[in-house]
Amino acid sequence: MRILAIETSCDETAIAIVEVKKSGKGDTFKILANNINSQIEIHKEYGGVFPALAKREHIKNLPIIFEKTLKQAKIKIEQIDRIVVTTGPGLEPALWTGIVFAKELNKKYKIPVIPVNHMEGHIFSIFPKKSKTFTVNINKKMFPMLSLLVSGGHTELILVKENMKYKKIGQTRDDAAGEAFDKVARMLGLPYPGGPEISKMAEVERGNLIPLPLTKGEAGRGFPKIKNPSSILPLVRGGGAQIQLPRPMIHSKDYDFSFSGLKTAVLYLIRDMKEKDSNILQNDKIKQKIACEFEDAVVETLVCKTIKAIKEYKIQTLIVGGGVSANTYLQEVMTKEIKKLRKSDFLNIKVHFPSKSLTGDNALMIAIAGYYQTKNKKFAKRMSSIKAEGNLSL
Ligand code: KG4
Ligand code: ZN
Repeated sequence: MRILAIETSCDETAIAIVEVKKSGKGDTFKILANNINSQIEIHKEYGGVFPALAKREHIKNLPIIFEKTLKQAKIKIEQIDRIVVTTGPGLEPALWTGIVFAKELNKKYKIPVIPVNHMEGHIFSIFPKKSKTFTVNINKKMFPMLSLLVSGGHTELILVKENMKYKKIGQTRDDAAGEAFDKVARMLGLPYPGGPEISKMAEVERGNLIPLPLTKGEAGRGFPKIKNPSSILPLVRGGGAQIQLPRPMIHSKDYDFSFSGLKTAVLYLIRDMKEKDSNILQNDKIKQKIACEFEDAVVETLVCKTIKAIKEYKIQTLIVGGGVSANTYLQEVMTKEIKKLRKSDFLNIKVHFPSKSLTGDNALMIAIAGYYQTKNKKFAKRMSSIKAEGNLSL
C-alpha cells in the first residue's frame, strides 16, 4: 500500500510518501519521500506562529511540495492508495489548507482520504530510525504503554492499554511545556522557537557546551559540543547568587501539569533583577543561569509525573514525543530515571524518543498513524465529515 500524508497543523508544510508491506516480522515501511518546509523564519519576527500567515504559506507551498514529493518518490499520484491528512489538533486555518488539498486530490483521483490526529502521529514518530526502511511490530509485550507528548501546544500523558486505544491521564492546565520554553526565551531576548535556544544556554551553564565564537561551518548548528566539559569549564551552578524557580504541581496527586506559574516566576525574577541593574540581561552568564534553572524545573516536573504514572500503571513502554522531546536534558534525565526503574520491578521497561529530525512536526509520522487507522478501518467514509478540529483530543 502506498500512502501520501499531509501535515499542516502549525508552521510546517509537510508531505511524505511511504510504501508499506506486511511481512512475518510486522509492517515494513519504505520512505519514498519525506519533505518538511518550515516557516520558522517567517514567524520569527512575530515571536510565535501567526495563524493567517501560516495559512497563506501553506496554500502557497502545498502544490510545490506535492510535486517535489511525487518526483522524489518517482511515482504518479494515480499510484497512491490512500491519502492521510492531519485534521487536528492545531491551528484551524492551517489545518484546513491540508484538508482542502486532500479533498481536491480525492475529487480528482478518487483516492480515499483518512483523517489523522496529530498527537497520534507524534506517538508513531518513534519508529523510523536512520535508514529509509523500518519495520513496525506492535506486540502485546509493549503494553501497557505510556506516552508523554510535549509540544508547543500540548503537554499530555496518554495511557495506551492496547494499540490505538488512548486514555488521557494528565494534561497541562494552562501553558504547554513548549509554549513556556518559547515565552521564557522571549523574556530573555532569545529568538523563536525558544526551546532549542534555552536548551543551548542551559547546557553551557551545566558545562556541557562552551559558547565559543562560531566558525563558518558551525554557524546555524549551535554551540560546539565539548568532549570533557569539566576540564574546560568548571560547573558554575551553586556559585554566586542561586536562582530558584518553582516546580508547579510536582507533588499533586493527579497527572496534570501547569507551566504558567513557572513562566510568571521567571517574569518576576527578571523584573526584580532589572530593578537592581537595568542591563542585567546583557550578561550571558545570568541568562544561562535562568535558562538552566527554568529547564531543570520543567524537566523535573515532566519526569517526576511520568515516573509516577509508570509505577501506578505498570508501564512496559514509554514513548516521549513532540517538539520538546528533542530536549537533550529531558532525554538524559528521563533515560537515567528509567534505568533506575529497570533495577527495581520494571526490568523490561523501554523508553523511546523520536530521532532528532522527527521530534518536530512532520508528515512521516502522520503516514504511519494513518496506515494503522486504515488497518483498523476507523476512517471516515464521507468526505464531508472530514473537517479541521483545532481542539481534537486523543
Ligand atoms: O511538536 P512541535 O514541533 O509543534 C507543535 O505541535 O507545537 O513543537 C514545537 C515546540 C516549540 O515550543 C519549541 O520551542 C519546542 O517544541 N522545542 C523544544 C526544543 N526543540 C523544540 N523545547 C525544548 N527543547 C528543545 N530542544
Ligand atoms: Zn506537533
